[in-house]
Amino acid sequence: MKLAAAIAAIVALTACGGRWIPEATEADATRVSARWPGTTAADLNRGRSLLLARCGNCHLPPSPAELDAAAWSAEVAEMRERSGLTVIDADLVERYLAAFASDRTPSAH
Ligand code: HEC
Repeated sequence: MKLAAAIAAIVALTACGGRWIPEATEADATRVSARWPGTTAADLNRGRSLLLARCGNCHLPPSPAELDAAAWSAEVAEMRERSGLTVIDADLVERYLAAFASDRTPSAH
């Protein structure tokens, strides 16, 4: 019983109200490579980890599909110092958000 309750709580927490924060694949990296040449899936997933760790302290971590890539660029610039992120780490967060932004297209940009 206790275990079932704990599992239910974990599922509820990780579900996060339907928040969509997908893990990146090489196909996603290819999509942002037009703008950021050489981006790898590992880069994007590092950005994802930073987003989960640093952008969820004051509010829930945002879902990348909430905004388009240009809006993310402005938002990350505004939130970078609040999050204590270096310019390099903030850049990875921005790449991750852009990869899954509302205006993402197969041909990128
Ligand atoms: C120190 C606290 C803090 C951290 C860390 C933080 N935010 Fe925020 N965020 C806020 C507050 C407060 C607001 C409410 C609007 C405002 O004050 O600009 C907000 C609002 C937002 C919004 C909504 C913007 C809007 O126009 O309403 C987005 C999107 C966002 N944050 C993204 C991020 C991202 C991405 C990160 C990580 C890079 C981040 N936040 C880290 C405090 C934080």
